[in-house]
Amino acid sequence: MSDSGGQRRASWLAGLEARPKAELHLHLRGAIPRDYLRDRVRKCPPARALASAPPSQLAMLRRQPAIARILAARDPAEELDGLFRFDSLEQFLAAYFFTVFFVREIDDFRGLVVGVREHLRAQNITYAEVTVSIPEYLQQGLPLEGILDALGEDPPARPKVRWIVDLVRNYGPDAAEKLLERLLPLLPPTVVGLTLGGAEHLYPAGQFGRVYALAREGGLRATVHAGEALGPESVWHALDTLRVERIGHGVRAIEDPRLVSHLAERKIPLEICPTSNVRTGVYPSIAAHPVRELYEAGVPMSINTDDPTFFDISLAEELAGLRSLGFTTGEIDGLASGAFAFAFDAEAAA
Ligand code: ADE
Ligand code: ZN
Repeated sequence: MSDSGGQRRASWLAGLEARPKAELHLHLRGAIPRDYLRDRVRKCPPARALASAPPSQLAMLRRQPAIARILAARDPAEELDGLFRFDSLEQFLAAYFFTVFFVREIDDFRGLVVGVREHLRAQNITYAEVTVSIPEYLQQGLPLEGILDALGEDPPARPKVRWIVDLVRNYGPDAAEKLLERLLPLLPPTVVGLTLGGAEHLYPAGQFGRVYALAREGGLRATVHAGEALGPESVWHALDTLRVERIGHGVRAIEDPRLVSHLAERKIPLEICPTSNVRTGVYPSIAAHPVRELYEAGVPMSINTDDPTFFDISLAEELAGLRSLGFTTGEIDGLASGAFAFAFDAEAAA
């Protein structure tokens, strides 16, 4: 690369960093500042933090070597970096879940929200839809009213944050429905949507039809994690049974050409998280990721980081990484500005 080529690229990346951006698929705990987590772990050692976990969850967590090492360490805070190394979606989901045990009080939750707002602000993300896995915080004993109070705050300074409730599919469809019935009359206007994260292969989208019907009646916008762990049939269920407006990931739609055409014709946006898909083993490398093919087929999309602390990536880096797949700088600029149009808050760009 010539010097001037290198300089042009560096200034383009700086431009991506500086420009106002929207992020539509980002989990609150997925963006937990590492220092904040370390501080919480120092305050409450893992053995004590996990004492309240049901035996089945404890066994699942202990099966992950990084978590077992943290639990056995003399200074667990020093072993935390291992949490961010994993080989599969299952291992990642265990690491992600593990972090909830260190959000023990409503002030911890509030501190997490403040830290994530700061993470967004520092990247010039002016609008974000942040996914919050409510049942996991309730399992921790946090009061629902306190959680909703924190989510209801809407400071005038950017980023403008809107919330997507994740009912976490691992708790099953009945628990999801019960919790949603409880939530709907209490939700502040800053909560705009519903999703399901967690183990898609154990709790596929098709089981949650009643939950999504209830959410629709209650005025929530709808997305769901689908086509990440499972193939195209899961995306079809998300569209036909759940009637979602966007799909979280959805990348495995590429395995069904009829579905790809359907997404393009109906203009259903995918929330694409390329680095996440590589780090959790959905694809072996960025070169193998189908984002370019989906783009060329006319499927609308936003680019996102999913769990930036775990995947060690910023939104600007995620966007810039598309260059290696043949995206031009103009196309990437278009993806960055186009994300605002897929927001669930009609005034996202304001
Ligand atoms: N929760 C946080 N990140 C997730 C992902 N990539 N898939 C499913 N659930 C999640
Ligand atoms: Zn996600």
